[in-house]
Amino acid sequence: MPEVDITSILKESRVFNPPKKFSESSHIKSFDEYEQIYKEAEIDPEAFWAKIAGELHWFKKWDKVLEWNPPFAKWFVGGELNISYNCIDRHLTTWRKNKAAIIWEGEPGDSRTLTYQDLHREVSKFANVLKSIGVNKGDRVAIYMPMIPELPIAMLGCARIGAIHSVVFGGFSAEALKDRVYDAQAKVIITADGGFRKGEVVPLKEKVDEAADKSPSVEKVIAVKRTGNQVQMKDGRDYWWHDLMKDASDKCEAIPLDSEHPLFILYTSGTTGKPKGVVHTTGGYLTGVYITTKWVFDLKDEDTYWCTADIGWVTGHSYILYGPLANGATSLMYEGGPMYPQPDRFWEIVDRYKVNIFYTAPTAIRALTKHGEQWPLKHDLSSLRLLGTVGEPINPEAWIWYHKLIGKERCPIVDTWWQTETGMILITPLPGAIPTKPGSATRPFPGIIADVVSREGKSEAPNKGGYLVIKKPWPAMLRTIYGDDERYKKQYWEEIKGVYFTGDGARRDEDGYFWIMGRVDDVMNVAGHRLSTMEIESALVSHFTVAEAAVVGRPDEIKGQAVVAFVTLELGNNPTDELKKELKEHVSKEIGPIAKPDDIRFTEALPKTRSGKIMRRLLRDIAYGREKMGDTTTLEDYSVLAKLMEDKE
Ligand code: WTA
Repeated sequence: MPEVDITSILKESRVFNPPKKFSESSHIKSFDEYEQIYKEAEIDPEAFWAKIAGELHWFKKWDKVLEWNPPFAKWFVGGELNISYNCIDRHLTTWRKNKAAIIWEGEPGDSRTLTYQDLHREVSKFANVLKSIGVNKGDRVAIYMPMIPELPIAMLGCARIGAIHSVVFGGFSAEALKDRVYDAQAKVIITADGGFRKGEVVPLKEKVDEAADKSPSVEKVIAVKRTGNQVQMKDGRDYWWHDLMKDASDKCEAIPLDSEHPLFILYTSGTTGKPKGVVHTTGGYLTGVYITTKWVFDLKDEDTYWCTADIGWVTGHSYILYGPLANGATSLMYEGGPMYPQPDRFWEIVDRYKVNIFYTAPTAIRALTKHGEQWPLKHDLSSLRLLGTVGEPINPEAWIWYHKLIGKERCPIVDTWWQTETGMILITPLPGAIPTKPGSATRPFPGIIADVVSREGKSEAPNKGGYLVIKKPWPAMLRTIYGDDERYKKQYWEEIKGVYFTGDGARRDEDGYFWIMGRVDDVMNVAGHRLSTMEIESALVSHFTVAEAAVVGRPDEIKGQAVVAFVTLELGNNPTDELKKELKEHVSKEIGPIAKPDDIRFTEALPKTRSGKIMRRLLRDIAYGREKMGDTTTLEDYSVLAKLMEDKE
């Protein structure tokens, strides 16, 4: 773990109480009620989680709530359930049978609504399709799709038969897809010819071809026809979704699965170059996302709920699909970009579908803020009653804009802190109960024991910065890193002894509110997406001209952080603007456009310690444009740094 000086500078004193009317009708109605539930859960967490799990459908009840062999947890041991059954079948015997489960809007403006009954039919058919092409329980299925209804259908189809899905964000490159397919040894890839994004076709099938050709584990590819662009179909390997679905039976029972059966793998950036396959299992994950969706979003049957994330990220898994459907909610899903065709697309959709709950990322809010007030003002946003954010700290200005312009000072804002690894929201306001402070994710969810500690694991005093840790296992926690128990142990449970290490810095104020200060390790948060500096560095170094690279983040008004790369070239190469461009494109091709460096700075050498470690801290100072450098006593050769400072752009 790198040494980081965590000092918090953010000071924000405004407090917003939940509106009385909101509190009266919400699931958790007052601060006292929250505190009481919190206390009870703290004293007996197993009883708390068991009560919630009891609200779900189990084919066989568990024998034991938790088996904790640190750092390996098993929840609801001996229990059997199916998440597809819980998200669909369970509702079919109720009035929700013909309720909209998914309202989908494509970027070009086409739309589709699937009721729970429709979803049941489509998912059952697709589960049969999977079986017919040889997918068995425990097999891994990679999913690389645009935000179209077939994406959740594919995920639920996998879950129905116990296949493990691994969704790869459609913005990743063929190379990144191939690495993930390889790591998971996926047997099948599900994709589409393309998807619509910012008015253009994103050619997904083409990238799948590139990846599949290099992936011996892949036996079949299924492609949805979405955009109609020309694609190649390889005989015996590639099938059209509609051809396979045509004759598939719509009868396919959801099979009982062990509570600890893996539900999905989702790759995320860590502090090394290799993405981590975060493994989530069935019973605990469902319990966690079910109750957080209900309480954090104060979800009611009448609500139209919209989370704008892409299902390729964990937010989409937990809070577009599994959490909302486990609650029998109506979940809206949108294919495209927020600025297309103009910067009021979000508000136009909110208005047209009368969205009640809206959950998005600070980066989107900041980008929309830039375009001015006229866009939200064009639309009737009176249906909204609750707003949420996730992905990075929200700066108070953006919070206030969101509060005033979108929430009309009427809607509580839930700033939800969590991670791919945590599976569910862990630190968050409960909107009817917890007063909010702009920029703070407020309090831990009941059953979650969070703390801010020193490197030695000692609790820090109020308002002193430290490392954010979680002290007790929780049901939706990751179980391991796919195929790498050691890395799981080391990365999350050994940095600070005996507790879960989040990798985030934080402070807790005098009211016990958490203020998250961002990553303390070599992970960046660019536009709400986690990127590893190492991963970008290895992409750069894989270019034949590059000898060495160091990547750091620099604050960016819209994206939160921008990617700055310091690069030394192999002898004989010229540091030209052309080459900068080429290197940016290279990273984009290796990882995806989200990882493309905003800045490339050529340098003859990188600042290093005497033991040869790159001093990223100093590079960060340079990228920030700071005049005064931090401690340079361990620097091997000061002239390197002096030169870099001179070259400042
Ligand atoms: C950051 C996204 C501040 C944090 C669900 C975390 C946040 C990382 C917040 C996880 C928030 C997420 N306030 N920071 N409300 N939410 N983060 O795995 O640094 O893509 O560790 O999961 O995003 O990103 P991930």
